[in-house]
Amino acid sequence: MPTITTQVAIIGAGPSGLLLGQLLSKQGISNIILERVTGEYVLGRIRAGILEQGFVDLVHEAGVGERMQREGEVHDGFEIAVYGQRTHIDLKTLAGGKTVMCYGQTEITRDLMEARQQAGLQTYYQSSDVALCDVKSDKPYVTFQHQGESYRLECDYIAGCDGYHGVSRKTIPEDLRTEHERVYPFGWLGLLSDTPPVSEELIYSKSERGFALASRRSATRSRYYLQVPLSDKAEDWSDDAFWAELKKRLPADAAAKLVTGPSIEKSIAPLRSFVCEPMQYGNLFLVGDAAHIVPPTGAKGLNLAASDVATLCKILARVYRDHDKACIDQYSQIALRRVWHGERFSWWLSNMLHDFGDTAISDMDSKTFERFMNSELDYYLNHEEGRKVIANQYVGLPYEDLQ
Ligand code: APR
Ligand code: PHB
Repeated sequence: MPTITTQVAIIGAGPSGLLLGQLLSKQGISNIILERVTGEYVLGRIRAGILEQGFVDLVHEAGVGERMQREGEVHDGFEIAVYGQRTHIDLKTLAGGKTVMCYGQTEITRDLMEARQQAGLQTYYQSSDVALCDVKSDKPYVTFQHQGESYRLECDYIAGCDGYHGVSRKTIPEDLRTEHERVYPFGWLGLLSDTPPVSEELIYSKSERGFALASRRSATRSRYYLQVPLSDKAEDWSDDAFWAELKKRLPADAAAKLVTGPSIEKSIAPLRSFVCEPMQYGNLFLVGDAAHIVPPTGAKGLNLAASDVATLCKILARVYRDHDKACIDQYSQIALRRVWHGERFSWWLSNMLHDFGDTAISDMDSKTFERFMNSELDYYLNHEEGRKVIANQYVGLPYEDLQ
């Protein structure tokens, strides 16, 4: 069996694995990525497109920010509409000058993949039977199959960046991990189209017919979402049906500007809040979706992955530069603290903006819950301190330093 050696084995070539690999290489730390599918398949996934400043800074640090800087849009604010009443959340004013960048996750992933290839860094696409071995020992290794051959990858550390369905999390023995989960009784049906967006800023819209989001990728490309029952299938929604429903859920003045056209992509994603604790086991670190999932309300998924990457990079830099191996024990606590803040924010926004139908919520019926949530929206949207709370979390809480 061919044996390969590297310092950090990275499982998964999604945005977490690719960004981590790039940043480690910049610090002279060698790494190899193992990915289950092809690069094209990874790039076929359409995901959110709102980047916090912390993420933007990391992409620049990785030397991959040039196209994002050129093509991405800086957004100074966004809107929350409640039954047609629009409130502007002025991020720049409310969050001390901070803004967000609107640039698709697919584009970031493409930029990172190209940079990795140009730097000649090794990625084994279409690797199967990936197994993480001896992760508690000083000499962990990963075995995998690639093009009909079995390999052994020896390393110092393993970064599990393999998403919610990956193998890394399951390598932590069941009795040593706790999984927190909330599954929401609806999904988001997303549609991408080459049509001018209804608005220069995002509109999160609560309506009598359920939630809708008007997002964008550029002046000529729109991304829209509709809250739909979990039983719906994307193929049952014609483009016409999507546009008609969206029009009813957006505030009237925005709906009047809606330009429709053929969809480029249409898919349904269920909403889930999920956290696995701890995020470290021996020399294995979980990063991004492998350890946590948020509902897309608030666009925190990719941004939480980025803060995990930032924390792990600081730790590995200290390990190799200062020979301080003990600092690895800080990973889980630092990462989880920020993860839980993002989880809480996404859960809170999701609760306030969606229609829960007849689903009972904890100890009350859904109508009572809705009254509480509408009062919560009324308070937070109509007081400056409330809008500040939303704005500061939307632009992203600061990254924590190591001790
Ligand atoms: N072996 C190797 N690779 C694997 C395995 C495996 N057993 N299982 C999964 N993978 C790969 C997947 O094919 C995928 O390309 O790991 C990658 C994980 O990527 P993502 O799911 O995109 O997760 P992550 O990189 O953490 O990105 C987080 O994605 O879901 C969004 O909202 C989330 O935006 C956030 C971002
Ligand atoms: C998106 O553009 O896809 C998007 C933006 C904001 C969200 C979720 C998704 O909260």
